[in-house]
Amino acid sequence: MSTKDKVLKILEENKGSSISGEDIAVQLNVSRSAVWKAIQELRKEGYTIEALTNKGYSLSTDNDVISVQGILPYINNPDIKNRIYVYKTIESTNLTAKKMALDGALPGTVVIAEEQTQGRGRRGRSFFSPADTGIYMSILLKPNFDPSKSVLITTAASVAVCRAIEAVTGIYSQIKWVNDIYVQDKKVCGILTEAVTDFESGHIEHIVLGIGINFKTSSNDFPQDIRTIAGSIYQGNTKGMASRNQLIAEIINELFVINEKLEAREFIKEYRSRSMVLEKEIKVIKGGSYVDMNSALESAPMAIAIDIDEDGGLVVQYPDGSRETLSSGEISIRVNR
Ligand code: BTN
Repeated sequence: MSTKDKVLKILEENKGSSISGEDIAVQLNVSRSAVWKAIQELRKEGYTIEALTNKGYSLSTDNDVISVQGILPYINNPDIKNRIYVYKTIESTNLTAKKMALDGALPGTVVIAEEQTQGRGRRGRSFFSPADTGIYMSILLKPNFDPSKSVLITTAASVAVCRAIEAVTGIYSQIKWVNDIYVQDKKVCGILTEAVTDFESGHIEHIVLGIGINFKTSSNDFPQDIRTIAGSIYQGNTKGMASRNQLIAEIINELFVINEKLEAREFIKEYRSRSMVLEKEIKVIKGGSYVDMNSALESAPMAIAIDIDEDGGLVVQYPDGSRETLSSGEISIRVNR
């Protein structure tokens, strides 16, 4: 770990209070000028560090730069503490996590970025991933369940993210089947689960669970084509805001708790209660990324969403009384308002 990272770790551990340059220097066994240099570098990276006469340095509680040192104090599971990687800008955290899996990264590895240049969404779409206002993270998991039930992990992840948002910010969120998270009728989070398959055996070796959250993006900053749908947790109002590091850590904590008992499906009850589609009239759009949404929407059949089954499938009833359970990732729904 560099001196800069070590200094950041100490500042994070003392966040909100101050610690003298001398104390830091003694703890790290480096000179005071090395500490001063590290502080300058951190400030350049965007950290707000105050220098108070006779007191020392203090990392402002308003500070919201994503860092491993900022996440670690909130992580419960010690096993994954050295499996967290934070990048400033990368193409896609899912892509990096997949590459790391192929290079032998362990399950529980988490890749996080401040910005993605080619964030991937479902159905071949892109995911808007601007710098500094969102959370883009991918978690590598080893499937210990029948891969045909992979929708389960996405379903579980939706519940984990909702729980984490509520625990950290106090804000209630809902789920639009299968994996979109909404706050006050605006989509604030999307989840994309991808498999890493062994080329020879065809087995799913890893699952990459990608989570994209609009944390404090202002509504005007969203591109025109998603502005009516997309929103963010804090909607640009950052007063009294929790930090992204805290939310990232809590998502990781919740995910590992849920993933341990995935097969028991205890989270399904909460998924149902947070569902914003149950008992609503919806349109069912089938087909992959090649489908033109606008024309598909016109011809899509109407149905009522009546239940979420134990595998996370959406049970719908068509006007003729017939029922179907939707479970494929190639299905999209629109809720009629
Ligand atoms: C969707 O709503 O269509 C799913 C969006 C998933 C976006 C996340 S951001 C982190 C991870 N990396 C990606 O490239 N995509 C996922």
